[in-house]
Amino acid sequence: MSTTDSACLPSIMAVLTALVLFTGIFSGFTDSDETTSTTLPLDPNTIARGQSLAYDYGCIGCHYVGSRTAAAFNGLYNSERLLTNENIIIADEAYLRESILEPRAKVPDGYARGIHPSDYRVRLNDQQVDAIVAFIISLADQ
Ligand code: HEC
Repeated sequence: MSTTDSACLPSIMAVLTALVLFTGIFSGFTDSDETTSTTLPLDPNTIARGQSLAYDYGCIGCHYVGSRTAAAFNGLYNSERLLTNENIIIADEAYLRESILEPRAKVPDGYARGIHPSDYRVRLNDQQVDAIVAFIISLADQ
């Protein structure tokens, strides 16, 4: 009997260790999910730069709250977008970037294609696109 008991102990320890490890990994996951959902540095300076670029390059002229021309940037990040091809996707960072640079790649339902300028990939450099995307992300909860 006592041999069985002591034989059980290591396996109980193993289960406990596994549990602790699993919880650790799991909370690690949720943590990193929150902090690395974006690869961009969301510092106030980048966001402010993105905001002025969004004005300078005319984005706000179409993407303002209440606009019928295009979706507002407010609340856009990580929202569900129904596309004209009937797919539903999440407006993650990659989608925002693609939508700015390749507007024909994925067209949100309810908006006309061919209005969003198609020349931003030559007019904006990577850092400018990063800053604009950071600005849009900063408006996620608004
Ligand atoms: C002349 C109006 C106009 C301007 C200027 C414009 N856009 Fe757009 N944009 C649109 C329209 C219309 C769509 C939806 C149709 C499409 O995807 O082509 C769109 C789509 C988008 C999307 C995807 C939004 C969604 O509904 O899922 C993003 C992101 C975006 N634009 C960002 C920008 C940024 C950033 C700029 C400035 C650098 C900009 N746009 C300038 C009209 C415009």
